[in-house]
Amino acid sequence: MRDVFVDFMAEKHDKPHKPPLWRLFDFPVPETHIMSGSALFETFTRAPLAFDHGEGTWLVTEKGERYLDFGGGVAVNSLGHSHPHLVSALTEQAAKLWHVSNLYEIPGQSRLGERLADATFADKVFFTNSGAEALECAIKTARRYHFVNGHPERFRIITFEGAFHGRTLATIAAGGQYKYLEGFGPKVEGFDQVGFDDIDAVERAITSETAAILIEPVQGEGGIRPVPTQSLRRLRQLCEQHDLLLIFDEVQCGIGRTGKLFAHEWAGVTPDIMAVAKGIGGGFPVGACLATDEAAVGMTAGVHGTTFGGNPLAMAVGNAVLDVVLEDGFLEDVQRKALLLKQGLAGIADEFPDVIEDIRGTGLMLGLKCAAPNTKVNMALRDQHLLAVPAGDNVLRLLPPLTVTDAEIHEALDRIRAGARGLSDAIAAAAAK
Ligand SMILES: Cc1ncc(COP(=O)(O)O)c(C=O)c1O
Repeated sequence: MRDVFVDFMAEKHDKPHKPPLWRLFDFPVPETHIMSGSALFETFTRAPLAFDHGEGTWLVTEKGERYLDFGGGVAVNSLGHSHPHLVSALTEQAAKLWHVSNLYEIPGQSRLGERLADATFADKVFFTNSGAEALECAIKTARRYHFVNGHPERFRIITFEGAFHGRTLATIAAGGQYKYLEGFGPKVEGFDQVGFDDIDAVERAITSETAAILIEPVQGEGGIRPVPTQSLRRLRQLCEQHDLLLIFDEVQCGIGRTGKLFAHEWAGVTPDIMAVAKGIGGGFPVGACLATDEAAVGMTAGVHGTTFGGNPLAMAVGNAVLDVVLEDGFLEDVQRKALLLKQGLAGIADEFPDVIEDIRGTGLMLGLKCAAPNTKVNMALRDQHLLAVPAGDNVLRLLPPLTVTDAEIHEALDRIRAGARGLSDAIAAAAAK
């Protein structure tokens, strides 16, 4: 088990500063980040770009400049921008009823819950507005399970290095990353972190206080790192052996992103609890915590709640997303397109190894493991009017909408190649100075 504070301080004070190789190359980089604006918290460094509207895989500025959106609002715009089925579902609902609170029946909520339960391992669903709230519900569900089964002492949850579970106090503790924890102490108690894919360390970390294991089947922010099938299976076995709950965070990798409705289906392993968000709303804020009847046993009337979660607008959009994603052949087509994109990217990586080291990920959740700094690769692609999203481990994420066309994939590959070539030339020129 690692303590991130101790690790961070050790790293900060013990390591001599050694600039990475790329810093020796003084190639010009345009100024691309500005602060938000005087009335906004300065919590985001934003690109100096504002979009007026979106059409499928494209974002368009007020001046009419078109960008290929392979960032997808960080895996949120699962069906691209302005998908006609989503637009009509939302506008029809908007004309009828926006909000009633969870004091009343919400038919769209019951329907979406049943559809998610039918399509997955789950029996029960709790709707939220965000991924972090879905994780909060998952964590609370796991703790309550042990509480009502007579083990209130079992509250600890094992998580993994590189994880990202959100920005609430509990989810930053679960993620365990110092950069998100710093200054927000005291850290919420009850999370024990082990190395990425270190299942032996999980086994060693289990104590009589352990309640659950929480894992992203494919790490997103951590750098598009899929957890090997074998490891997910071993985690399932450990959970059976020790009466632990297995929690999957499929906030980023779920809802068709990997070419299956949920990424864990590739491994043939089911969790007891799962957090979902992002893609299920296609751009409207929706999250969900799914659980088996057994795991949800402690989540009885009054123990948890939400004002906005599961509201009629969100549920109309969630149902509309499922209409499309569950259509016959939709996910198979995602798999086919993903292969096309991945093969094209592998060719570009072969061509420009000084820029892109490797291609990671599965489905339309792909990562360019960069040789140059990922922020610079990102800027080079943005100059080509292609949008991507940086992640940890010097990776640049490509998360296009699941509706991306073959022609758009070819167009994106041309732009990525052009960006990589430009960067490669700049690196070579800097090295020759
Ligand atoms: C895997 C994962 N879990 C949780 C979250 C938190 O979701 P939200 O930002 O909607 O709270 C994210 C967001 O990036 C995520 O990628």
